[in-house]
Amino acid sequence: MTAGEPAGTGAIDGDVRLPPDDTGEALDLPASGLTLTFGFGPSLFRDAEGRDRFGLADRQPEALRDLPHFPGDILDPARSGGDLCIQACADDPQVAVHAVRNLARLGFGTVSVRWSQLGFGRTSTTSTSQSTPRNLFGFKDGTANVKAEETAALDEHVWVGDDDPRAGWLVGGSYLVARRINMTIEVWDRQPLGDQEAFVGRTKGTGAPLSGGEEMSEPDFDMPGSNDQPVIATDAHVRVVHPDVHGGARMLRRGYNFVDGSNALGGLDAGLFFIAYVRDPGTHFVPVQLAMSKSDALVEYLEFTGSALFAVPPGVGPGEHVGQSLFA
Ligand code: HEM
Repeated sequence: MTAGEPAGTGAIDGDVRLPPDDTGEALDLPASGLTLTFGFGPSLFRDAEGRDRFGLADRQPEALRDLPHFPGDILDPARSGGDLCIQACADDPQVAVHAVRNLARLGFGTVSVRWSQLGFGRTSTTSTSQSTPRNLFGFKDGTANVKAEETAALDEHVWVGDDDPRAGWLVGGSYLVARRINMTIEVWDRQPLGDQEAFVGRTKGTGAPLSGGEEMSEPDFDMPGSNDQPVIATDAHVRVVHPDVHGGARMLRRGYNFVDGSNALGGLDAGLFFIAYVRDPGTHFVPVQLAMSKSDALVEYLEFTGSALFAVPPGVGPGEHVGQSLFA
């Protein structure tokens, strides 16, 4: 499918007496840059009582534990957790959905879909060659993200190392943190521009820090402003989540915007499907989310409605299958 080909013998080339082994909606479409990323959740290893489910418990990485409850979380269990995950990314949503649909169809009888989320317009740059996209608050998102060209930073913050003996199969992989974050769009849209910028700590136009400079300039958190307050407020998002206050921890953010129609009040059921890849969620995500939940100005406009953590094994080589290092 990542080569633009159908699953199996295809939608129209098989035995007419049998259901086709491809569903057909991607016929005539190009590969559209389709990528597939697979992950394994904590519940694949142990059930809620801690019992070994499939003989894999001794390979459950120390860091692959359910995320803690964060202040303000109003999670929908039906949109959280899961044994397995598939992230399909493509330039055309029809191609991404086709991939997920066919993989789920192939697994019929063994697996079933617990929840899914369709997103659009990636919210984070992941390469210096990309211009920074915007999230649904209208702000540039991904400015200070770990970029593909920063290979040393990827090794330090994103790829799993060999420090956990039970997680040998995961070396060179990563952890995927997913958070479905609803934004109260209509309330946000009534806030003055200056307040919106203060909540983020950056300007809405160029994305430069409020302490000045260009988009890529380093924020100056000590620069004094008016009323004895710093120019970048103490509860500004970029200050609260900044690596300087989290032991240098960075994350590779790779989220999407979503709009799932409207809610009962006629507001958009919309937000950011936050996805981050980290080397260790315990050091690189949990403290950051905790700080954000406790003291970030943005959270007044956010509702955390879904949450999951998965271990993503390293990529597959020719002749290998997904997760071979775990299941072998
Ligand atoms: C809907 C929710 C969110 C919105 C609207 C949002 C928005 C933004 C914006 C506009 C920036 C500045 C530009 C940039 O560097 O990318 C930013 C940076 C950042 N955000 Fe968020 N964010 C959200 C949720 C989160 C969450 C849940 C986390 C992690 C727990 C997070 C972690 C970060 C980090 C680490 C940075 C970079 C800080 C730096 O190094 O300067 N964000 N976010």
